[in-house]
Amino acid sequence: MGNELKIHAIVAMDPSQVIGYGNELPWHLPEDLKQFKQRTTGHTIIMGRKTFDSIGRPLPNRRNIVLTRQAINISGVEVIHDLCELRELKHNGTLFIIGGAEIYRLALPYCHGIYLTRLKQEYNGDVYFPDFEGNFVAKQDIFENDDFTVTQWINKKPQPLD
Ligand SMILES: NC(=O)c1ccc[n+]([C@@H]2O[C@H](COP(=O)([O-])OP(=O)(O)OC[C@H]3O[C@@H](n4cnc5c(N)ncnc54)[C@H](OP(=O)(O)O)[C@@H]3O)[C@@H](O)[C@H]2O)c1
Repeated sequence: MGNELKIHAIVAMDPSQVIGYGNELPWHLPEDLKQFKQRTTGHTIIMGRKTFDSIGRPLPNRRNIVLTRQAINISGVEVIHDLCELRELKHNGTLFIIGGAEIYRLALPYCHGIYLTRLKQEYNGDVYFPDFEGNFVAKQDIFENDDFTVTQWINKKPQPLD
């Protein structure tokens, strides 16, 4: 078909799977943001409404999709109300699930892989990445520095979106 959905999650978490605090990222890591930008530019990013509010604007050079239960319009963004709507998209490239916790929880079964930044330091948090290690296997470490390691994880059995 040439339009098979390739869905990946991309996330940064601390050793306890903290991903956020007070609807913000608990850390400021320019190198991780740079890699996020490199990986997602030219592709489609899908996020929960709270994560969109936290970022505050559509991210440039990417197709921005926001999942919400509300009937809202957001300039520069496509709004969807159900993940299944992703099947109807005419799209090129990869779909990246970029968070937050609610959307990761919803979408992980359909994700082929995860680009996972694991920070070395602990942070205070109020949202956590869901448990995933039973369903995914670590394929390879693709980057490491003093602050974090980036590892590619592969879903043992990704589900089709239905
Ligand atoms: N470390 C990372 O890599 C990373 C990445 C992204 C985000 N974050 C952090 O994660 C936190 C936000 O995560 P979160 O879990 O609170 O919120 P979220 O997943 O970003 O957004 C939740 C919202 O998504 C919508 N939603 C959820 N399930 C839905 C469904 N089944 N159908 C339709 N819409 C649905 C609802 O929007 P409505 O209320 O509008 O209906 C819900 O309030 C922030 O702290 C952010 O900084 C961290």
